[in-house]
Amino acid sequence: MPSGVWWQYGILYEVYPRSFQDANGDGIGDLRGIVQRLDYLADLGIKGVWIAPFYTSPMADFGYDISDYCNVDPIFGTLADFDQLLKAIHDRGLKLILDFVPNHTSDQHPWFLESRSSLTNPKRDWYLWRDPAPDGGPPNNWLSNFGGPGWIRDGSQYYYHSFLKEQPDVNWRNPALREAMFNVLRFWLDRGVDGFRVDVMWMMIKDDQYRDNPVNPSTFSDSPASVRLLPVYNTNRPEVHAIVAEMRAVLDSYGERLLIGETYLPFDQLATYYGQDLKGAQLPFNFHLMQCPWNADAIAQVIKEYEAVLPAGAWPNWVIGNHDQPRMATRVGPAQARTAAMLLLTLRGTPMMYYGDEIGMTDVAIPAAEVQDPAEKNQPGKGMGRDPERTPMQWDGSKFAGFTAGTPWLRLADDHATVNVATLSGQGDSALSLYRALIRLRNANAALNAGGMEGVASNGHVLRYERTSEGQRFSVLLNLSESAEEATAARGSIVVSTHMDRSGEAVGASLSLRPFEGVVVRLG
Ligand code: GLC
Ligand code: CA
Repeated sequence: MPSGVWWQYGILYEVYPRSFQDANGDGIGDLRGIVQRLDYLADLGIKGVWIAPFYTSPMADFGYDISDYCNVDPIFGTLADFDQLLKAIHDRGLKLILDFVPNHTSDQHPWFLESRSSLTNPKRDWYLWRDPAPDGGPPNNWLSNFGGPGWIRDGSQYYYHSFLKEQPDVNWRNPALREAMFNVLRFWLDRGVDGFRVDVMWMMIKDDQYRDNPVNPSTFSDSPASVRLLPVYNTNRPEVHAIVAEMRAVLDSYGERLLIGETYLPFDQLATYYGQDLKGAQLPFNFHLMQCPWNADAIAQVIKEYEAVLPAGAWPNWVIGNHDQPRMATRVGPAQARTAAMLLLTLRGTPMMYYGDEIGMTDVAIPAAEVQDPAEKNQPGKGMGRDPERTPMQWDGSKFAGFTAGTPWLRLADDHATVNVATLSGQGDSALSLYRALIRLRNANAALNAGGMEGVASNGHVLRYERTSEGQRFSVLLNLSESAEEATAARGSIVVSTHMDRSGEAVGASLSLRPFEGVVVRLG
């Protein structure tokens, strides 16, 4: 069992800064706004806050196109605001995790402006420039994840972009680029941050021979263009692990710091990102709960597969929402979202929450004329858009939900008058009250935040497992079916039910679960 450090026992929470809290009335969330809401986060009981990018950016991909890694975009505030935010976070005993975007910069970054300025500029080799194919077309068949070819002609050559053409990919084989990127980490570590979430970690380095990707046999004619080829040669290359290890070494030179990787990968591949001797990412994100079918068998299978591939001593993590994926309450419905919350907060491993999930926020349909996300604009109607899960946080029942005094950059959900922090705080059976109860329980019990996990099983309807530590034992039973279920149980008492009405109830040899009901039972 790893010794308990903050990023293992503590709960992490993602803030999408455009949508959390606007302090100056321009309709866009900002760093001062986050400061205003820190008491809420501390009170909720989370430990680490990950803030998606707030650096200087032309905002072609809402901050994932960075033109200055070491500054704050004026939309979000100033470096002084950042320092105040960091201090306010630390004053509350919380930790701050920044987003690091090392795969690409903005096309407005001075590095790229120099790189494109001539074939002989020393920074030419900081990006992925190639000569055209003999027919004048792109150098190979690699695609962009936002649709269309990944190559764009610029003068006599093409450059590669995994995302927008405004996001040219950098060349991690160039030592000067590597050092410049590590200096970005040092800049923020020197200011005192506690860790980084590394954007598209598995994409950072590409095949040095630029081989064509093979065709993906399992796509259909209406599949988004970006998935018609298997990304064999432009993602998840073996050389990536040396880069991750170097990043980790930079962090380690500052003491206990956290390196998280964005890693959309099957489990066997995901596991390799822990690195040799666990000197890679401490938490390569596990997104499988957002992708697997939502039923007891499939989830039991995911848990077992994941536990089976974890390298010795590696610490697990679980994610059920982020700024790129449909919200859980929409994907599986509000009742199942409550069992998802119980699952997330009782599994073994660090839980990663997404802002608003704790109040049951749902995806918001954005009319075509209001679409903001380039992923939707480039491939309309294919479900690629991420605006629906990025709508403003719903704080109270006022006109703009307490998010802004101006006009929100993205429309609010219709339900914000009733689904908001202020209203749900006063309701004992609300999603927020359930989250609070589960977080309190997890934080207070080593079996849940640091202990072992046993007996993962499913009978097709009910998913169950036990969490244990010295002298403590909890049984978690989750009925993922729409029918009532009778489950065998061990003697104990219910501490939390997803329905928030059975606390203290004694459990005998069997236990009746209502449709979609989950319970945590303290055994003994
Ligand atoms: C990551 C981010 C996503 C962004 C993309 C390009 O997947 O989470 O929001 O668009 O990288 O940076
Ligand atoms: Ca603002």
